[in-house]
Amino acid sequence: MNWDAFLAPYAQAVEELKVKLKGIRKQFGYEESHSPIEFVTGRVKPLASILEKASNKNIPSDQIESEIQDIAGLRVVCQFVDDIYKVVEMVRERNDLKIVMEKDYIKKNKDSGYRSYHLIIEYPVETIHGEKLILAEIQIRTLAMNFWAINEHSLNYKYEGRIPTDIKERLKGAAEAAFRLDEEMSKIKREVQEAQRIFHRK
Ligand code: GTP
Ligand code: MG
Repeated sequence: MNWDAFLAPYAQAVEELKVKLKGIRKQFGYEESHSPIEFVTGRVKPLASILEKASNKNIPSDQIESEIQDIAGLRVVCQFVDDIYKVVEMVRERNDLKIVMEKDYIKKNKDSGYRSYHLIIEYPVETIHGEKLILAEIQIRTLAMNFWAINEHSLNYKYEGRIPTDIKERLKGAAEAAFRLDEEMSKIKREVQEAQRIFHRK
């Protein structure tokens, strides 16, 4: 198996999708309106992690393409929860990709406390041998959800996936606190906007 050749279209897709998603933010900037996108990151899953995941999930190497859907990974970070749904709708309207799966871990968070909106998309990459459809995962979350997830992820790494129960409970509490922060910020935003509308009418 030539893994470099296998991973090349994924690297291409990550770079292209980063440009496209960052482009959305730029366009809102030109129009001087609030961008639902704060920042965008992307990565190709390291080969060692792909092989580890395949082995853990008993995925034969010829099924990695279809069964491991986050080899190409994009992350869109937003200021507010309603921005997440605006981004999802903008992605849905695009003609250069197709959503094949959606998971709303915001309305229904994971047991760990994790919140995010996940899209699995099918994305065409132009290769020297023609078009190749690849799968990519887009995680869309607020800054607060991102703060929680990166901290929880590094603890998982430290404890090799076996976080002690007491710390797990505190992480769940922290996830709820992060979500209350998101809700409170949304409320403040609405009240500020309302105040501005009344001010402009006068
Ligand atoms: P994976 O085998 O991890 O891909 O799980 P899955 O195929 O069931 O997909 P799921 O939507 O649950 O998770 C996909 C990705 O979301 C993961 O690879 C992580 O990046 C992220 N994620 C899911 N759950 C958690 C969590 O509890 N904590 C953190 N930090 N990230 C999570
Ligand atoms: Mg996954």
